Amino acid sequence: MIKSPAEIKPAEGRLGVLLPGLGAVSTTFIAGVAAVRRGLALPIGSLTQMGTIRLGRRTEHRTPKIKDFVPLAGLDDLVFGGWDIFPENCYEAAVRAGVLERELLAQVKPELEAVTPMKAVFSPEYVTRLHGPWVKPGQSKLDWAEALITDIESFRQRERCQRLVMIWCGSTEIYLEAQPVHQSLAAFEQGLRDNHPAIAPSMIYAYAALRSGVPFANGAPNLTVDIPAMRELARERGLCIAGKDFKTGQTLLKTVLAPGLRERMLGISGWFSTNILGNRDGEVLDDPAAFHTKEVSKLGVLEHILQPELNPELYGNLYHKVRINYYPPRGDNKEGWDNIDIFGWLGYPMQIKLDFLCRDSILAAPLVLDLALFLDLGQRAGLRDIQEWLSFYFKTPMVAPELYPEHNLFVQLTKLNNVLRYLRGETQITHLGLEYYD
Ligand SMILES: NC(=O)c1ccc[n+]([C@@H]2O[C@H](COP(=O)([O-])OP(=O)(O)OC[C@H]3O[C@@H](n4cnc5c(N)ncnc54)[C@H](O)[C@@H]3O)[C@@H](O)[C@H]2O)c1
Repeated sequence: MIKSPAEIKPAEGRLGVLLPGLGAVSTTFIAGVAAVRRGLALPIGSLTQMGTIRLGRRTEHRTPKIKDFVPLAGLDDLVFGGWDIFPENCYEAAVRAGVLERELLAQVKPELEAVTPMKAVFSPEYVTRLHGPWVKPGQSKLDWAEALITDIESFRQRERCQRLVMIWCGSTEIYLEAQPVHQSLAAFEQGLRDNHPAIAPSMIYAYAALRSGVPFANGAPNLTVDIPAMRELARERGLCIAGKDFKTGQTLLKTVLAPGLRERMLGISGWFSTNILGNRDGEVLDDPAAFHTKEVSKLGVLEHILQPELNPELYGNLYHKVRINYYPPRGDNKEGWDNIDIFGWLGYPMQIKLDFLCRDSILAAPLVLDLALFLDLGQRAGLRDIQEWLSFYFKTPMVAPELYPEHNLFVQLTKLNNVLRYLRGETQITHLGLEYYD
């Protein structure tokens, strides 16, 4: 059960952030933290660093920064580690990813060079477009899990970490549905021994993290930690889990816009979303099996926001299509177009066109930071199991099986803020507002 707010353990000592996958997102995150520490840039996009939270009545004017309100680990206390199938250090990987300018990278080169990947647990069946040499040998998936547990312990000792969190920033794997081997911890562990094909590498990392007492968040749309076996392990060990799929560019805007249209009872007949993307993520998603994992994640959003079963005349015939096109010239700078066909009073049609020239990893990096700090906070506050208040960060929020996920960005933020208020013993804000006019 949740401990009383007074019992949140202080954020003392070093927090190790473990990242399976040291690609564009991870290196942009690590370089960004190093740049912010050196005073070279601001942590824009990070709620933990820049966000505020209103407390009490509006007349009280209490709006502290979130980082001053809840005890979060400081940026100076973060240390980074990770795994990749390529042996390049994070400086080399960041240069190759081409997200940040060389000039900025040169200024944080020592911090980036210090992070060298551990050998990965990887099978090309799950990410068909990638082939890298930096992989662990192993007879069975259980051997791999044990090897990762050893890596985690060595890292903890080497870096003198008080606490660890793990965030999956590895590639999107092929589409998998939950199967009997995922339904209990015992079945999963048997599956590890038997090399069961439905156990993907990302699941082995999640299992190793939880077995090591490390909370886990999933930045990709893979099943990974979103299976009953992992929930069982997380509950048993009192650990926080969260996922999945960072909510960044097009889907972020979708979950801002769709609730607005719905709250005004405007109908939507079609929503066509297409992207061009040229980074390694785009290359991986060029494989139809990996794309399907992403597609399912991106498509689920509108249905839950619009609730067509409640307003079939407005949303019952919605045609929703999502495409991702691998287009190397753009690199990490994605362009996402949306065409939205809506209708209003008496059924009169209108159109909305969006063209978002975004930078994928620039949008994702602050999410990794917030997730690392909030997962660690949740852990110190005695929370466990799925952290629904972190839905704010995900395209496909994990929820208990009897619940539907909340996709509306503003409801997600209310949930997050209310958990923070709860943890600090502050009253919840209802937005009733009548008391000001009594
Ligand atoms: N950038 C965004 O806006 C965004 C949004 C949502 C989700 N994501 C997801 O985040 C993940 C990372 O994105 P990225 O742009 O950094 O991709 P990337 O291709 O640059 O980096 C992924 C890295 O993971 C490594 N990898 C793959 N399988 C691995 C394994 N089993 N063990 C260790 N390393 C492994 C790859 O070698 C690669 O270096 C992807 O799954 C992507 O779909 C990104």
